[in-house]
Amino acid sequence: MFHGFSNIFFGINPQNKFGILMKNGLLITLEGPEGCGKTTQCKLLYDYLKQKKYSVIKTREPGGTLLGENIRNILLNPDYKNIDILCELFLYNAARAQLLKEIIKPSLKSGKIIICDRFFDATLAYQGYGRDIPKNIIYSLDKIILRKILPDLTIVFDIDPEDGLKRALKTKDNKIGDRLEQESLYFHQKVREGYLSIAKSAPKRTKLIPSSQSIEKIHKIVCTYVEKLLAKKVKEEFGLINEN
Ligand code: TMP
Repeated sequence: MFHGFSNIFFGINPQNKFGILMKNGLLITLEGPEGCGKTTQCKLLYDYLKQKKYSVIKTREPGGTLLGENIRNILLNPDYKNIDILCELFLYNAARAQLLKEIIKPSLKSGKIIICDRFFDATLAYQGYGRDIPKNIIYSLDKIILRKILPDLTIVFDIDPEDGLKRALKTKDNKIGDRLEQESLYFHQKVREGYLSIAKSAPKRTKLIPSSQSIEKIHKIVCTYVEKLLAKKVKEEFGLINEN
């Protein structure tokens, strides 16, 4: 059983008033279809790491910056039903470029852990699989926008879209959902297929967790993956070996 490396980190790494910092920071992304519970898990993970004294920030896509949140309002507004799929693709990428510039790059540089509620995998799942935009277009934009910044760990929560949509709509005041939630079940099934395929094709970076378990159980599994990542980071940065 692995118990984490927080104390080792604590002994070696500079901890300022914001918490424990690493040399290059870490990017952890949480993904999945509507209603998969990722936002709840982002918060639980953030609290867990904060309590362990890590310097951690939580952000989301689309959004996380003033500009990005404004783009989010456009993207999720059901009044824009008629939005062109390429316009949609570029808006998601525009919000991402801004988030990278304002939040992700500087935070990685200063050694923080970033928890991001959705990132570039969402574009492949929603615009690639969901909207059938050719994957090579998505990949080309990834190359331009990300410039080699990839998540260190991506947790994909899996849920049947019918159950997920029900769950997502339950929390909405109007019970009809945003522009994406109002898409057909078929669209959301394709998105789910997209996520499953992403998880399969990048097994080192991504971990798939079924959302059918309790929030607490899922949180524990998430923490186990994150602790493993932190242990790997300690090894890489300080040459320490886990004897357990
Ligand atoms: P959420 O953050 O509440 O899940 O809402 C974001 C919505 O935007 C969600 O329906 C997924 C969708 N989305 C895309 O279609 N493409 C993307 O690249 C991202 C980041 C999100």
